[in-house]
Amino acid sequence: MNVNRRHLLTGSIGAAAVALTASACASEDSGSNGGSGGGGKVGIAMPTKTSERWIFDGDNLKTSFEDAGYTVSLQYANDEPDKQVSQIETMVGQGVDVLVVAAIDNKSLGGVLAQAKEQEITVIAYDRLILDTPDVDYYVSFDNTKVGTLQGTYIVEALDLENAEGPFNLELFAGALTDNNTKYFFDGAWAVLEPYVTEGKLVIRSGQTSLEQIATENWDGSIAQERMDNILSNSYKGDNKVDVVLAPYDGISRGIVAALQSSGYEKMPVITGQDAEVESVKYIIEGLQSMTVYKDTRALASTTVDMVLASIDGGEVEVNDTETYDNGDHVVPANLLDPVSVDVNNYQEEVVDSGYIDEADLA
Ligand code: BGC
Repeated sequence: MNVNRRHLLTGSIGAAAVALTASACASEDSGSNGGSGGGGKVGIAMPTKTSERWIFDGDNLKTSFEDAGYTVSLQYANDEPDKQVSQIETMVGQGVDVLVVAAIDNKSLGGVLAQAKEQEITVIAYDRLILDTPDVDYYVSFDNTKVGTLQGTYIVEALDLENAEGPFNLELFAGALTDNNTKYFFDGAWAVLEPYVTEGKLVIRSGQTSLEQIATENWDGSIAQERMDNILSNSYKGDNKVDVVLAPYDGISRGIVAALQSSGYEKMPVITGQDAEVESVKYIIEGLQSMTVYKDTRALASTTVDMVLASIDGGEVEVNDTETYDNGDHVVPANLLDPVSVDVNNYQEEVVDSGYIDEADLA
C-alpha cells in the first residue's frame, strides 16, 4: 500500500477530455455554462437510499458537479444490480461525458462500461471498486483497509487486550460479498484481532469466522439481526455473554443491538460501526454502540469533481495509491481519503462541529 506518496498521473482519458471540451464549447455557443468543464453531462449511479450515506454522497456530488457547470443525472438502484446496469445504459444513451458509479455488484458492470468506453466516457469507480473490466479510469474512496484497522484497534483498546487476561467472547460480522470493500474492511480489522484470537484472549463461540459465514447480504441490518439472534440462541446458552462484536457498518450495528436487546442484554457489548449515521451517533451517545468510522462524504464528492476537472483541463489527475486496487484487469489509480474513528469522546468535534451532522438531529 502506498497511500502517503502524493502522486500525479497523466490522465488516460485524453480522448474523453477532448470530447468534453468540445461539448463545453458547444454549450457556450448555445448560451449555457462556460468555464472549466462547463456544459458537460455527468451520470451518477448510486446503490441505494436505504443507507443515509449514499443520500449524502448523491446530494454532495450533484451539488459539486452542478457548481462546476455540469448537468447531472443522479439515479439510485435500490440495491438491485440489474436496475443499476439499466440506469447506466440510459446515462450512456443520454450522452454523458463522465460516469461516477458506486457499484452494487462489483462484477456486473463490465458490459455497460464497455458501451461507455465506446463513447469515450470517463468512468470513475466511486467508493467501491468495479472489478474485471478494463473500462474504469480512476477509483476514489477512503482507505478501506484503514477503516478495518480503526475498528480492530478500537476493540483492542476498549477491552485493554494488551493487559487484560480475558477471555472475551467476540462475534464477527462483515458486509456484502458483492462489494469489493467488504474484504478490505474485514482484513484490516482481522489483522489487528487475529493475534488475540490465536492467543485465546478473544473467543468466537459461534465458530463463524470465514467471510462467507459472516457476510451480510446487501449490508442489510435486518439480516444481521437475524444472524445475531441465531448466534445468541445457539452459542450463548446459560451464563455466556457476548463481550464484543465487530460490525462493519452502522445499519448492521443497529441490527445487532436489536437482537441483543430482544435477548435481554441491558448493557451492550463493545460494538463497532461505520459511516457516522445519525441514528448510530445517537446510539453512541446513549451507550448502545461504541464507535463508528466517520468518512466525510463531502470531501469524497469534492475530490471526485477535482479529479474529473483535472483530467479534462490538463490531463493530470491527483492520485495517492497506484498499487493496492487491482480490479482483476489492471491496477486502478486511486485517490484514498482518510477515515476517522469516532466515539462518545470525539463525536462532537468530528461530526457536529465539522457540520457533517446537525446537532438538532441528535436530540
Ligand atoms: C461503503 C460503506 C458503507 C457500506 C454499506 C460500503 O461500500 O464503503 O461506507 O457502510 O458500503 O452501504
